[in-house]
Amino acid sequence: MIVDIINEIFKKDTTIKRHIAKSISWRIVSSFDTVILGWYFTGKWSVGGLLGVFEIITKIILYFFHERVWHKLKFGKASRSLIAANVKKQLNHQLFEQKFSVTSAMREKHQNHKIFTIWLTGLSASGKSTIASNLDNIFFNKDIKAFVLDGDNTRLGINSDLNFSDEDRKENIRRVAEICKLFNNSGTIAIASFISPFVSDREMAKSIIGADKFIEIYIDANIETCKQRDRKGLYALAEKGKIKNFTGISSPYETPLHPMIHLKTDVLEIEDSVASVIAFLKDKKLIS
Ligand code: ADX
Repeated sequence: MIVDIINEIFKKDTTIKRHIAKSISWRIVSSFDTVILGWYFTGKWSVGGLLGVFEIITKIILYFFHERVWHKLKFGKASRSLIAANVKKQLNHQLFEQKFSVTSAMREKHQNHKIFTIWLTGLSASGKSTIASNLDNIFFNKDIKAFVLDGDNTRLGINSDLNFSDEDRKENIRRVAEICKLFNNSGTIAIASFISPFVSDREMAKSIIGADKFIEIYIDANIETCKQRDRKGLYALAEKGKIKNFTGISSPYETPLHPMIHLKTDVLEIEDSVASVIAFLKDKKLIS
């Protein structure tokens, strides 16, 4: 029974096990030192032993709670990007980009459309997925190779280790941008539907994918409309404090500065929004 409860706690937070083990191991080492010092200064093993036992018990407990508090603090922890930069530096001389004979330019020539990424950014429930799905349908019916990448889906798969902290959102966007680049390299149009709330993260996505291939579309609906449209009920939960770091409620959304297309989905009909995107792509000769 008690073993089951402990196992449940360990499953919920694996770091607890580590902190208990560290508390015990350090205390054994350190209290051994106290026993020796007690004997050295009093000449009695009994005093050293008593001090050591007393210390082992009280300080294991103090050390454990001290570790738990530090675990919650960000201070001094290496950021994900710093760890990644160090690994990159370390492996710099042992990894080389491979070139293959079929280039993306060659792939592009073989098809009736250019290769690019449509990046839809906006609040949750602003209409990104609906527009992505409509575009995908139009492309599919015109034999244009395209694929939708969406926040919920990628977070249920490749990005299932990421939460909604600023740092993890950045990693989410970095990985997704790399995936878009791979899709583009394979000759496929990527339709990326992500809140991507930070200007700097969208700029990073643009530089990974390539500025010439990155079409930023701002899906702009005011937050009240998003709340009304929210079928998942996430805004209500966020307002009650049951979801942390929720975009628009407890986490910011930075408005795109120069989106290529700005769709006010709280006033436009879906068909009109989709038609604007298609007109833009035709105008730029990206599709025919
Ligand atoms: S992003 O900010 O990192 O770009 P992403 O687009 O992948 O977000 O995921 C957004 C989706 O996750 C939303 O459509 C919503 O359904 C869900 N979600 C769950 N928790 C949150 C949260 N705290 N903030 C925003 N969206 C959330």
